[in-house]
Amino acid sequence: METDADTKLYALIGNPVTKSLSPFIHNYVFDFLNQNKIYIAHKIDKGNLANSIKAIKALGYGGINVTTPHKINVIEYLDDLDVSAKNIGAVNTIKIVEGKLMGYNTDGIGFLDMLEENEVELRGKKSLILGAGGAARAIAIILAGTQISHLSVSNRTNERADLLIEELRQVNKEIVFSNAFKKHNFREFDLVINATSVGMFPNIDETPIDLEMINEDAILCDIVYKPHLTKFLKLGLERGHRVIFGIEMLIAQALASQEIWQGTKIDKVEIKRELQERFS
Ligand code: ATR
Repeated sequence: METDADTKLYALIGNPVTKSLSPFIHNYVFDFLNQNKIYIAHKIDKGNLANSIKAIKALGYGGINVTTPHKINVIEYLDDLDVSAKNIGAVNTIKIVEGKLMGYNTDGIGFLDMLEENEVELRGKKSLILGAGGAARAIAIILAGTQISHLSVSNRTNERADLLIEELRQVNKEIVFSNAFKKHNFREFDLVINATSVGMFPNIDETPIDLEMINEDAILCDIVYKPHLTKFLKLGLERGHRVIFGIEMLIAQALASQEIWQGTKIDKVEIKRELQERFS
């Protein structure tokens, strides 16, 4: 990747950012599209968020991704929010046009894209989301807009799950929402999504649920992508489950950010294939 005086800047802001795969993914896309753009990562503390946004505007960045801990706090510095960010209440993508900052959230849409690519049928299906944090919220809200019949949430801190379920009930009256806290039988679920950080490096021997409690026909998704093969998915594969890797969602949400910045659809099939091969 070469830069010159016209190179357009893109970045990730968050803390920590050192282990992020986003620079690799986005620079790969810019190269693939033969564009004079570069993507870097900035470690930004909470106290520096306001100044960083000012700097990003002043330096003429084309767009940024936002990660922990700024996904909610960044909203006050934006000029407008897309419906995706409004619904989720958090921003992971900002597009900057003539100094105006527009906030989006591609976590949910990335998740749906990934299910679609894996030809997962949602109509009438029952889903279980493990977790009630930011990622779980984005996934739950997007699933609440689909034709699933039942959505359950289970979280270590039960009150967070209750709050999320209350909110989901306002989004769609057709779906049955429930709390699966302390439930011991998850056999009714067709789709089980780990949206917690359980199993993430360095705690790679942890799994968010006892697989024995799940129906063997259930499809398992993990948002954790480090390691690629989490304990949850490894045990799932051993039991014959169909599994979807965290890297697939990461790539899908990154490509959704790219389409926002590019202002047009991009040919994602080849990019995804190449990227997934590199990370698996
Ligand atoms: P993110 O934005 O990545 O979702 P988060 O909002 O901090 O991050 O949420 C992390 C999720 O992982 C939460 O559901 C958290 O459960 P709590 O709400 O009880 O904190 C869950 N989580 C993290 N570590 C966990 C652990 N060791 N066991 C069970 N759940 C865990």
